[in-house]
Amino acid sequence: MNNKFKKNIVFQKYEINRIKRENKNGYKSKVIWFTGLSGSGKSTISNILEKILFKNDINTYVLDGDNIRSGLCSDLTFSSIDRNENIRRIAEVAKIMLNAGIMVLVCTISPYKKQRLLAYNILGKSNILEVFVDTPLTICEQRDPKGLYKKSRSNEILNFTGIDSLYELPEKPDIYLNGTVSITENIKTLIKTLYKNNIIFFSTYS
Ligand code: ADX
Repeated sequence: MNNKFKKNIVFQKYEINRIKRENKNGYKSKVIWFTGLSGSGKSTISNILEKILFKNDINTYVLDGDNIRSGLCSDLTFSSIDRNENIRRIAEVAKIMLNAGIMVLVCTISPYKKQRLLAYNILGKSNILEVFVDTPLTICEQRDPKGLYKKSRSNEILNFTGIDSLYELPEKPDIYLNGTVSITENIKTLIKTLYKNNIIFFSTYS
């Protein structure tokens, strides 16, 4: 926002704040941010995780790149500038949801280090867990669930992550998932880590 207008904005403190909501809910809200190539398994893994959380009375919401790009970010392309804006908006929405006491699962490629750092800065380090779903490009391309790698190879679409657009590997993700092992194994890793970090209070699930 233009600084001229910013100085006339006064932040309102809500009486029903995040702490009150968290106390009522009985758990702390968090943003679990999945990053990885298209087809790496981010959405599949987070959807299963969400079902488990939901079943255990945790209020959740998934912010999925494709879905957000159908509405809030439908004006954005896949240029690096627009991808940064995409991540900024998603992080700001996730922040609102965090304050609303929701466990937010973000699934976006978020290919650049700078963007992931921006998300950390917007949300605050203690509020976000970065999950890197590490699936090699060759496997993602074999899976090609949306047929987009094929389109990218035939130049039907440009700036496709991993092909003609960069994916910068996360150096120190909070949770590392090997996208080539079973979903069950990755879900176990996630639940175990969330439990260890006192984010959830159950370690067994069905
Ligand atoms: S991000 O790079 O800005 O984080 P985001 O996660 O929102 O990407 O959207 C990625 C999804 O958009 C992919 O899963 C894929 O379905 C679709 N998509 C369409 N064009 C591209 C492209 N050029 N690069 C990557 N994903 C694309």
